Amino acid sequence: MKIVLLGYMGSGKSTIAKALALEMGVVAKDLDKQIEANVGLSIPEIFEQKGELFFRKKERQVLEFEINNESEGVLALGGGTPCYGNNMDLISSQHNVRSIYLKASISSLTQRVLADSSERPLIKGIKADDIPEFIGKHLFERMPFYERADLIVNVDQKSVEEVVGEIRDLL
Ligand code: S3P
Repeated sequence: MKIVLLGYMGSGKSTIAKALALEMGVVAKDLDKQIEANVGLSIPEIFEQKGELFFRKKERQVLEFEINNESEGVLALGGGTPCYGNNMDLISSQHNVRSIYLKASISSLTQRVLADSSERPLIKGIKADDIPEFIGKHLFERMPFYERADLIVNVDQKSVEEVVGEIRDLL
């Protein structure tokens, strides 16, 4: 089985993917890291030098490769991956893929995103005071895509171990 973790920036997808994969004895993969390796630039550099449309096309290509191969593992998507093209249809169409939405509140996402905003091209130009409103609006737009996941796990105020335990119980 392939587990796909999705959710907004700062919801803990990469951290949970690593911990869950370790627990299940499978590999953890990160879509953003694969895009970086494929292009030879960091995510902020790709946005700066090539633009978001280029990034979204690469994101789709790498997603297709990851979803369509036979390997098992836990794959952390980027925050926007489910919301572009028909990426969520692709993810939902595979019988061996279980998708999990890591759901977090606006206030916890704000705290986590503020901690490393310079690494996040979509947040970079926004004033710290405006981040909660930005995330609120953005999350409202993205929620219908995230909620198409097979499972939804609330991550607020939970440790990594608690989230991993909950996912294991649900699977
Ligand atoms: C994005 C989220 C980022 C990365 C890119 C775009 C988004 O991934 O893919 O900066 O559109 O929300 P993380 O959710 O891992 O930060």
